[in-house]
Amino acid sequence: MKAIRFAEYGGPEVLEPAEVGVPRPGPGQIRIAVRAAGVNPHDWRVREGQFRRVRPIPLPAGVGQDAAGVVDEVGDGVVGIEVGEPVFGRGSNTYAEFAVLSSWARIPEGLSFAEAAGYPSVVETALRVIRLVGVRPGQTLLVSGAAGGVGSAVLQIARDRGIKVIGTAGPANQDYVRSLGATALTYDASWPDRARRLGPIDAALDLNGTGVLRELLDLTGNPDTVVTIADLEASLLGIRFAGVGGNMPEALAEAAELIARGKLHIPIARSYPLAEAASAHADSQAGHTRGRRVLLV
Ligand SMILES: NC(=O)c1ccc[n+]([C@@H]2O[C@H](COP(=O)([O-])OP(=O)(O)OC[C@H]3O[C@@H](n4cnc5c(N)ncnc54)[C@H](OP(=O)(O)O)[C@@H]3O)[C@@H](O)[C@H]2O)c1
Repeated sequence: MKAIRFAEYGGPEVLEPAEVGVPRPGPGQIRIAVRAAGVNPHDWRVREGQFRRVRPIPLPAGVGQDAAGVVDEVGDGVVGIEVGEPVFGRGSNTYAEFAVLSSWARIPEGLSFAEAAGYPSVVETALRVIRLVGVRPGQTLLVSGAAGGVGSAVLQIARDRGIKVIGTAGPANQDYVRSLGATALTYDASWPDRARRLGPIDAALDLNGTGVLRELLDLTGNPDTVVTIADLEASLLGIRFAGVGGNMPEALAEAAELIARGKLHIPIARSYPLAEAASAHADSQAGHTRGRRVLLV
């Protein structure tokens, strides 16, 4: 089968199409014929070798963790899903014609494979950080980096829960952030003052690691009410870094429920043929994705 691989850590150019064997699902896993794979910043962080000390991987290696496709083989012990059913979920080496998933759910009615591939990791992350920061209905949440994949999910889930959101985004995404029910702010130097003038802020999320933790701390007045998913300096300020602990099956079920009620939509920023994975990575790394980029298989 065709798959995207890299033989050494490096820039987008190390990604290359290759012919490899079809993977087999282990116990509790399924294999899908991939129709679309989601492109997450995590994928290019792995490709660059950012995690090589904590999680070394043998090279050459495949890429990707989110995908949508048709069930092709079911591993031992798997119940409730059959060959031929359309699913989305998380697994490994999903930039490929076939991939093994360890968590999945049926694709909600009306959602294309391309759209579905964009949901798993962003919804899992969004649910995890909203829970961790402890924001409640009626409270106000400040979201730095509101227009990306995770931001798009956080804004819509928060709105559904009756949480007021103020989101920062670039000039081109102000209307988009407003369309998701949030008050939009551009992130030029005066944004903290403009946020403060909007009233008390109960909790804040840093979703892009752009060095805003001190400002978020000033706005909420308490490190327990600030969480980051992307700034490794967090512990210096007593702020929590949300790195692990997600529940993907729960996230997929909640995503399906929200999508069915028309409360969650992650737009496709752009789709690319599988062979153009390097372009998708370069565009994702440029840092201004609205929603999610996907590879079509
Ligand atoms: N720790 C975890 O568990 C975890 C999980 C998922 C993701 N992450 C990390 O979280 C980050 C975001 O992930 P993602 O999938 O949402 O990324 P993404 O879809 O690529 O979105 C990035 C967003 O950042 C915004 N942005 C760029 N510069 C900004 C600035 N100065 N201030 C505020 N926003 C800015 C961009 O919006 P504009 O175009 O409007 O500028 C863009 O929409 C990545 O670094 C990823 O690696 C961590």
